[in-house]
Amino acid sequence: MLALTVSAGNSVAKQAHAAAPIPQLVQKNGKFALMVDGAPFLILGGQANNSSNYPAALDKVWPAIKDMNANTLVMPVAWEQVEPTEGHFDFSFVDTLIKQARAHNVRLGILWFGTWKNTGPSYTPSWVKTDNKRFPRLTNKDGSTSYSLSPLYDATREADKKAYVELVKHLKAIDGQQHTVIILQVENETGVYGAARDYSAKADGLMNQPVPDALVKKLGKQPGNWHQVFGDDADEFFHAWSIARYCDDIAAAGKAVYPLPTYMNDALKDPLNPKSTPGSYASGGPTYNVLDIYKVAAPHIDLLAPDLYTPTSQSYEASLAFYARSDNALYVAESGNKPVYARYIFSTLGRQGIGFDPFGFDYSGYSNYPLGEKTWGPDQVKPFGTVYALFRPLERVWPKLSYEGQVWGVSEPDDHSGQDLDLGPQWKARVTYRQWQFGMPEWDPEHKNGYPEGSEVPSGGVAVAKLSDNEFLVAGINARISFDAGPANKDKGMLLDRVEEGHYDKAGNWVFERVWNGDETDYGLNLTNTPRLLKVRLSTYTK
Ligand code: DGJ
Repeated sequence: MLALTVSAGNSVAKQAHAAAPIPQLVQKNGKFALMVDGAPFLILGGQANNSSNYPAALDKVWPAIKDMNANTLVMPVAWEQVEPTEGHFDFSFVDTLIKQARAHNVRLGILWFGTWKNTGPSYTPSWVKTDNKRFPRLTNKDGSTSYSLSPLYDATREADKKAYVELVKHLKAIDGQQHTVIILQVENETGVYGAARDYSAKADGLMNQPVPDALVKKLGKQPGNWHQVFGDDADEFFHAWSIARYCDDIAAAGKAVYPLPTYMNDALKDPLNPKSTPGSYASGGPTYNVLDIYKVAAPHIDLLAPDLYTPTSQSYEASLAFYARSDNALYVAESGNKPVYARYIFSTLGRQGIGFDPFGFDYSGYSNYPLGEKTWGPDQVKPFGTVYALFRPLERVWPKLSYEGQVWGVSEPDDHSGQDLDLGPQWKARVTYRQWQFGMPEWDPEHKNGYPEGSEVPSGGVAVAKLSDNEFLVAGINARISFDAGPANKDKGMLLDRVEEGHYDKAGNWVFERVWNGDETDYGLNLTNTPRLLKVRLSTYTK
């Protein structure tokens, strides 16, 4: 059994860190775990706003991370800030960040804002973004120059790589024992808008070369040049391949120094509109239609992660489904910060997600409305703080159960409809929403008693983990879960043998608080906005 490690913050934990292995993404039977200090760890992240990456801004970051109950702050480190003059590096912000993160007892994910930030070069140093001769931008189809840098030039890649490797070397030097930094994002939202690829003569020449063998084989194609093999998709696929190879080279160089887990995030292609044209979305980024290309081209990128800013449950769930693959661990690299997004942690965990990281969590005074909330403060952080309060004590327990056992998770759909959980042959469950804690819905078909306050905005979700054959852990809010006999028990009646409310202590042991029975269980297990954890033991009786 894996030892459950106490989180950092006391001297015992610090000694444990000194001997602990470097964070690593591991995989077993198509399941993943992010190992931190040798045991699975769930990232309950909060991503700071883009310009909070300076020491003077950090005072406004930590209170939001605290209110959120996050265990990880995700923070950009920009090429322009660490190498303002070519060859001269300044990691003073990184030093301050790591020191303060340790004092606040949170881990860090670092975002490398290099060649691409939302597809553009805005975070490259001045000596890069103003020198298009040395660091060429790509050519649009009509021959004009794009805003985005081309991935086809060694000069750009080598310069970016040099700075990234210096950053990684610095992390190894100051954090190689303690592992406050647990994951690195290589670039930020790669690709290009307004074009499918670089249409320069150089790019045209490369497209007439044979498609690399490994890619042809992976996609089950016949050999040929990019046009011959991929037809109408050739432009986008070539650009995706070129960016993936570029980023893989950077990630590989960093891993050779200090092999932290790496990922790339994606500005999504609409999951419900496969016919959308590349360039109307970020062409060449790790959109769901090119994940196989990235898997071949970028073996040093551990996972490809969606940035989820579409609030509808149909769209959000469709994107989660695209990125949770047996060869790709699900990590929600970014998510919108409107209250409706908070519930999606449940379906992320149901798909064995290793982490969740909504965007814009600091009190710097910035709000990304209309994409996110209009005003920003503790009230806006609260819905996320509520769901994280449920999972923070499970930051070690849940990912171990997810990696080694079976888990389920659902978020309330926009139409509030119920969901069935297939818990295997013995048991099943139904999750429903907008219910009172007492009584059955059929008692009030016309809803004369109304609905719980605030429940018109979907906010519910439930996560379930199997503890043993007949025992389940239930974590949820604003939902009712009702267990029932599964197909193997179809002639028997289901009974709730024992329902315990409790919590896990820091060593990962269950601490019993009370038994739920009577009104608390007669109408299903009703979870309110107060985070509660239940251990449910099921049994049957002969009918
Ligand atoms: C996605 C980007 O990755 C973030 O850095 C940020 O620009 C958001 N979009 C919008 O606030």
